[in-house]
Amino acid sequence: MKDERVNHRDTAGAASRAALCSSPARLAGPTLCLCVAVVGFCTGCSQQMAVQPSYRPLKPSDFFADGRASRPVVPGTVARGQLRVDTALHAGRDDNGELVTDFPFEMTEEVLRRGKQRFDIFCSVCHGLTGHGDGRIVKRGFTPPPDLTKDLSRAFRLRDKDRLLTEVAVGHVFEVITLGFGAMPSYSEQIPVRDRWAIAGYVRVLQASQVPTVREKMLHGRKGGKK
Ligand code: HEC
Repeated sequence: MKDERVNHRDTAGAASRAALCSSPARLAGPTLCLCVAVVGFCTGCSQQMAVQPSYRPLKPSDFFADGRASRPVVPGTVARGQLRVDTALHAGRDDNGELVTDFPFEMTEEVLRRGKQRFDIFCSVCHGLTGHGDGRIVKRGFTPPPDLTKDLSRAFRLRDKDRLLTEVAVGHVFEVITLGFGAMPSYSEQIPVRDRWAIAGYVRVLQASQVPTVREKMLHGRKGGKK
């Protein structure tokens, strides 16, 4: 196991130093005691926590049959904090697999302000600050995204449906951020779940602020769009 950083050489010396330090009563005389104190002080009577018989992440191992120190997840177990039973919150779809048309938690002013801040950071480079698809990266040659305020959804077009992006279910916006779509990469690693919803909420705000029909629908309670 050449990768293990175990310092066996020091172990015996450290043990004997520890014994001497902890039992001064057994020492022959004051001179010897003083010597031991000096040696102990110089070499350190402390445990060396940095040197341990443990593996570094993703290191190989001779011990396990598959040669890997990192062990696979035990089937049927869920890591703490990663139980995703609320599919509406984590996938933007209900228990039947349909896109949700409502937000899984309330879009308060505070949440929407957070959504604006996150949109400006993560999305505006391509979609532009107003959602028109004219971000800096696009100006330098990246695939132009659709205008979020007036174009048809390309994802729905692939399913043979003509649906304006102002009309799609809000679960679709969440899903696109989470999984990515076409030339757009997934943002599930960079943006936590609740922030993705906050951004989806802010996309609706952008649309409502520029498209009177969306504003009308919001005022009459149809917040989330069609499936
Ligand atoms: C690197 C550039 C880039 C970034 C950053 C980006 N997008 Fe996109 N987005 C695109 C492109 C390009 C498309 C069109 C994909 C295609 O047609 O292949 C798209 C498509 C979309 C669509 C429409 C999907 C459909 O149904 O047609 C939505 C909604 C969307 N993006 C939202 C977002 C949001 C919200 C963010 C921020 C979290 C974001 N995007 C970040 C490039 C980007």
